[in-house]
Amino acid sequence: MGDHPARTVSWPTLAGWQPRVGWQSGVVSRTPQGQRASLDKQPHEVAAMFDGVAARYDLTNTVLSFGQDRFWRRATRAALELRPGDRVLDVGAGTGVSTEELAHSGAYAVGADLSLGMLYAGKRTRPHVPLLAGDALRLPFADASFDAVTISFALRNVNDTDAALRELARVTRPGGRLVVCEFSTPVNPAFRTVYLSYLMRSLPAVARAVASNPDAYVYLAESIRAWPDQAALADRISSAGWRRVAWRNLTGGVVALHRAIRDESAI
Ligand SMILES: C[S@@+](CC[C@H](N)C(=O)[O-])C[C@H]1O[C@@H](n2cnc3c(N)ncnc32)[C@H](O)[C@@H]1O
Repeated sequence: MGDHPARTVSWPTLAGWQPRVGWQSGVVSRTPQGQRASLDKQPHEVAAMFDGVAARYDLTNTVLSFGQDRFWRRATRAALELRPGDRVLDVGAGTGVSTEELAHSGAYAVGADLSLGMLYAGKRTRPHVPLLAGDALRLPFADASFDAVTISFALRNVNDTDAALRELARVTRPGGRLVVCEFSTPVNPAFRTVYLSYLMRSLPAVARAVASNPDAYVYLAESIRAWPDQAALADRISSAGWRRVAWRNLTGGVVALHRAIRDESAI
């Protein structure tokens, strides 16, 4: 992963993307521990929790999202605008389900994750996907190693969001791309009410039927509620060495894609 000429990628169209505006902070509080992490997201708790869900992670995801997860992953790949031969890092790759989707572009996609259980599950089901152990806060790669970096449904689980965004910038070449795919805030107030009710009541109940560690899905619901909305996350990305930050809502804002370009002068 050595030197290579910087290429500037332009995202000429803003159609469907909103430029960054405003600031609003998320609320993070401590909750009791069980077979789940608390909202202060200690790395050993987070890793143990994902070890516990690994066996049925892919299936549970698809059930709980009504199959939308596949659409969200395809949209993430499209937003990265990968080309054959590009090097892309998928941080918090888990079982490699998100990494595998990226490889469909012809790019060389490698995944890194904190949970050995998730990585082992991925090695069993996707032996062709390169996966390795790595912490989003201390990635095992040299500066500017990648043309693009992405993190799907994992940034919310890292206990220092801003440090993780800076670390993602460190391993991205100047002018390289970032796409964050994460749960967010539905824009329609009526839909938001229905969604929050699903999140806090129905989702844990469904998880009890399908998941290998249902308590983890209580954490999922709580961590989504405590996560910054679209504009707030955009501001944090901008403060961490990224420029031209914009976001796009998927499924009415249940998920948002944030994209940005690595600032040449950052870090
Ligand atoms: C919800 S899963 C997402 C997996 C996959 N990216 C996907 O889209 O399905 C979140 C993953 O983030 C990982 N994770 C949490 N904190 C991390 C950290 N500090 N560094 C690396 N991975 C982390 C967890 O171990 C877990 O596998």
